[in-house]
Amino acid sequence: MGVTAVVNQKGGVGKTTVTLGLAAAAAADGRRVLVVDLDPQANATTGLGVWDAERTVDHALEGEAPGSLRDVVRRSGWAGPPDHAPVDVAPSSPRLAQREHQLAMDVIGAQDRLAVALEGVAEGYDEVVIDCPPSLGLLTVNALFAADRVLIVAEPAAWSSDGVEQILRNIARIAERRGGRPAVAGIVVNRLGRTRDAAYWDGQLRELHPELVVDPSVRLRAAVAEAAAQSTPVHALTRDGAAEAAAEFDELARVLGMASAAPAEPTEHEPTGHEPTEHELAEHEPTEHGLGPQPQQPFAPGPVASAPPVTTTTGDV
Ligand SMILES: Nc1ncnc2c1ncn2[C@@H]1O[C@H](COP(=O)(O)OP(=O)(O)O)[C@@H](O)[C@H]1O
Ligand SMILES: [Mg+2]
Repeated sequence: MGVTAVVNQKGGVGKTTVTLGLAAAAAADGRRVLVVDLDPQANATTGLGVWDAERTVDHALEGEAPGSLRDVVRRSGWAGPPDHAPVDVAPSSPRLAQREHQLAMDVIGAQDRLAVALEGVAEGYDEVVIDCPPSLGLLTVNALFAADRVLIVAEPAAWSSDGVEQILRNIARIAERRGGRPAVAGIVVNRLGRTRDAAYWDGQLRELHPELVVDPSVRLRAAVAEAAAQSTPVHALTRDGAAEAAAEFDELARVLGMASAAPAEPTEHEPTGHEPTEHELAEHEPTEHGLGPQPQQPFAPGPVASAPPVTTTTGDV
């Protein structure tokens, strides 16, 4: 059993996408997976084909009851290939946003509600993946208190490394109180397109955190977005680019220890063969205009260049 929190305080970088991709890859490897949706926007919940949940994570965090998450967990609506393990979900609801405010009033401190709610529940799974909201507020802090390790999702875009520094400082502060937990599992670069801009910011992240950026990065592909929109695992999608995306998540899951090391079944396609069309890029990626310095231009000193070392523990939660 391993509990992994997927975090970034910015929305739209791909936390939910990576959560679902890794869940699909681990299930394809036969692992029992629970996705805990901690974002009031509930994108992971609907991405897993659940719309009508009566009991949600919000209920489980209401009090301090060990194992309370058990009452809200349900089977996802994913119909994966028959040899894939089923995926369970602890669904979210918009009410979770109010719950966060209410938890903040707890004078004793409510940062470990989720850890308590997961007691005895997490043990029933090989992998528990927590999809966090786009903030470093109390819900994300709860995920960090419940997790064994944290996966940071970053996009190759202007100054994304600044956000990463802030997350790393918060993780370090919590790990100090929890005897070294959670560990940093790595930084996964998502939505990696083929523009010079993407290559530049991807390079910045790798230069600042050579030991943390994990390979492979997740490429920008229309199939990835379509899988979530259709509430289906990308492994079950047959359109162009789906096999390549699934292979990428399989490899990422292996690198992160969420799938066994044995090589996957060979796919019909080359692993990186799908070149996104202009249309796909226009759909999913901003143009290069105004997105920061180009690689060949001199680099003006800025927040990236002057970022503090990540080992400091002085940042604010
Ligand atoms: N690798 C990718 N290729 C194409 N689209 C992507 C990719 N990753 C994320 N997206 C799309 O970008 C949007 C934001 O992703 P999401 O996972 O919801 O981000 P977050 O959970 O961090 O807010 C969604 O519409 C998603 O489908
Ligand atoms: Mg999300």
